[in-house]
Amino acid sequence: MKSVKIVEVGLRDGLQNETTMLSVDQRLVLLKKLIEAGVTHFEIGAFVSPEWVPQMSVTADLIGKYYSSSVYNKKFSASVLVPNEKGMRLAIEAGVKEVAIFASCSETFSKKNINCTIDESFERFKPVIALAKKHKIKVRGYLSTCFSCPFEGAISQKKVIAIARRMFKLGVYEVSIGDTIGAAHVGEVRTLFSKLKKAIPIKNLAGHFHDTRGQALANILAAYDLGVRTFDTSLGGLGGCPYAPGASGNVATEDVVYMFEGMKVKTGLKLDKLVELNQWLQPLMNHSLPSKVGRVGRLKPLKK
Ligand code: HMG
Ligand code: MG
Repeated sequence: MKSVKIVEVGLRDGLQNETTMLSVDQRLVLLKKLIEAGVTHFEIGAFVSPEWVPQMSVTADLIGKYYSSSVYNKKFSASVLVPNEKGMRLAIEAGVKEVAIFASCSETFSKKNINCTIDESFERFKPVIALAKKHKIKVRGYLSTCFSCPFEGAISQKKVIAIARRMFKLGVYEVSIGDTIGAAHVGEVRTLFSKLKKAIPIKNLAGHFHDTRGQALANILAAYDLGVRTFDTSLGGLGGCPYAPGASGNVATEDVVYMFEGMKVKTGLKLDKLVELNQWLQPLMNHSLPSKVGRVGRLKPLKK
């Protein structure tokens, strides 16, 4: 059976943009329920500046509680976002075994998101990678604004490919291609991934689609057809980037699982549990969650 890897980013990309601050215990319950629903690859938080993203300031506490909880499993991939050496040192202190660095394809977004140019961000990654090697920590890479930028508009595919290659050469095991503001459409996804897979092995590429314009599922399918087998999703479709105006949530985990189930592509996730979890999370977030499948669940079998 064909399969895809789903990376659940709700605890990081999902929560980072929310006004409601879940407590560490609530986050831990969310994580436990995600694990019960079959999640094995997830982002647990970020070691970024607490001034810039207060929502992520509880990451170390959450990691500590997760490690001593009954659902901890060393085979799971539990990653944290780190922008620089300071973040990496905090990650090491917290005992993480996987981190994700993140760069942008737009100079303006890079400045707004991490307060430096693209080149400077790559300079900052050097000590992160060196520490990762020393401590045997896996490093994933994100590239933001791979299709368009909220400040600069359309981004040249040539530039995206060059930066993706640069990131891959740095030593990340996977480059996740981000449609940060959810503006990409199928045509662009096809052309970009067709070119990217000539530069980087397809098994080392992932898709990270926000769903602002309702194109994320179509874009995932387009990327899947080209051989991409890893996708980032967020329970309920929570999320967005605080420094990308207009960006709404990530594609919802439930919607993606529903689509792949229908295609007989294994995700390892249990849709009914995800829908239950959506119903549990919604009142905590104080607003309705954008996921479509999360709202209505799967089609009930017809009564005979
Ligand atoms: P800065 O202000 O330029 O940092 O921020 P600085 O080096 O000048 O240091 C200023 C203060 O921050 C110092 O503290 C540092 O110690 C501290 P002070 O001496 O004043 O007390 N500091 C830190 N504290 C904790 N953790 C750190 C850290 N680094 C410095 N790692 C910085 C630069 C990168 C830190 C800041 O801009 C930042 O934290 N940005 C993060 C923004 C962010 O998290 N955005 C959302 C995630 S990206 C995203 O969502 C896109 C993605 O989903 C893919 C997609 O959708 O495209 C991944
Ligand atoms: Mg994102």
